[in-house]
Amino acid sequence: MFRIAVIPGDGIGIEVTSQAVRILKKASQILNEQFEFTELKAGGIAIDAYGKPLPEETLKAALASDAVLLGAVGGPKWDALPYEMKPEQALLGLRKGLELYANIRPVIMFDSLIDASSLKPEVVRGIDIVVVRELTGGLYYGRPAGIFEEGGTRRGVNTMTYTVPEIERIAHTAFKLANTRKKKVTSVDKANILHTSMLWREVVNKIHKRDYPGINLDHMYVDNASMQLIRNPKQFDVVLTENMFGDILSDEASMLTGSIGMLPSASIGEKHALYEPVHGSAPDIAGKGLANPIASILSAAMLLEYSLKQKELARKVFRAVETVLDSGYRTADIASADKHRLSTEEMGRRIENAL
Ligand code: IPM
Ligand code: MG
Repeated sequence: MFRIAVIPGDGIGIEVTSQAVRILKKASQILNEQFEFTELKAGGIAIDAYGKPLPEETLKAALASDAVLLGAVGGPKWDALPYEMKPEQALLGLRKGLELYANIRPVIMFDSLIDASSLKPEVVRGIDIVVVRELTGGLYYGRPAGIFEEGGTRRGVNTMTYTVPEIERIAHTAFKLANTRKKKVTSVDKANILHTSMLWREVVNKIHKRDYPGINLDHMYVDNASMQLIRNPKQFDVVLTENMFGDILSDEASMLTGSIGMLPSASIGEKHALYEPVHGSAPDIAGKGLANPIASILSAAMLLEYSLKQKELARKVFRAVETVLDSGYRTADIASADKHRLSTEEMGRRIENAL
């Protein structure tokens, strides 16, 4: 028995997650293994129901599960709330509470969607990048942080901080992943100016030399990396970087494929794992059946691969998505005049059938 905590969250998170659950139910049949789904609240919906974005029972149940499947959180209704009360705090709390220090974001190029990219087809065809983003350190969590009164004015403060063990464990994640791929890691930092980055680079070099001499490692400053991603994205295999840089670069990298609405992610720690689409809650289209469930479905595929070690079945889900796209079926976000338009649920069903 495999216990999955399902946190649909807000907006389109709810619609897309139910399609991912559909695929997981099918997977449980194929594997002949029982999955137990427990639905939990987090984000705006939890603020409405419990007065806080991450209720203790949600965190507790997530900690007790074998894997978490999350939709998206947030929406205009909750934007004006104070910092600790914002829906996004649910994400930060889950990441910290489950110690999900490694965020893995594959940049997947579907051949049939190549024209959706704003870059030339020859630049993006065959892209295969994975961003490995550190997820529980850096500016997002560093203290002191806040807005302070000081000498008659206010001062906003965030602190970027990394310890050696924090850098070591995420470096291991990136090198191990590269070992299963093209054996190349690009570590992205700002070591010409930031102390945290100088330590980052030193530690990544040490781990590389000691444990992964067979991997091809290079270092790139973050400003240059953001330029190189657009100039020649195919030079990248695994991109290893800290929390904030990874947040920014992963959005940039995802858009190379033309469709941030298609990309999954996995957030992994020693004991727990959480899977969620890279996209947000898209309140403007929520509840209309317009949302694309593919990112959520591919996140479920990552769950099968990483938490259940069912790599072959994960591949099958990926191929089912590919087959449906190749047959000309599209949700609204990736639609074009000559293609068949499907609702969120119809897309989920097609992919289930293809599987
Ligand atoms: C992401 C998102 C989150 C982040 C926000 C919603 C807190 O942008 O997962 O990339 O910045 O990490
Ligand atoms: Mg982001």
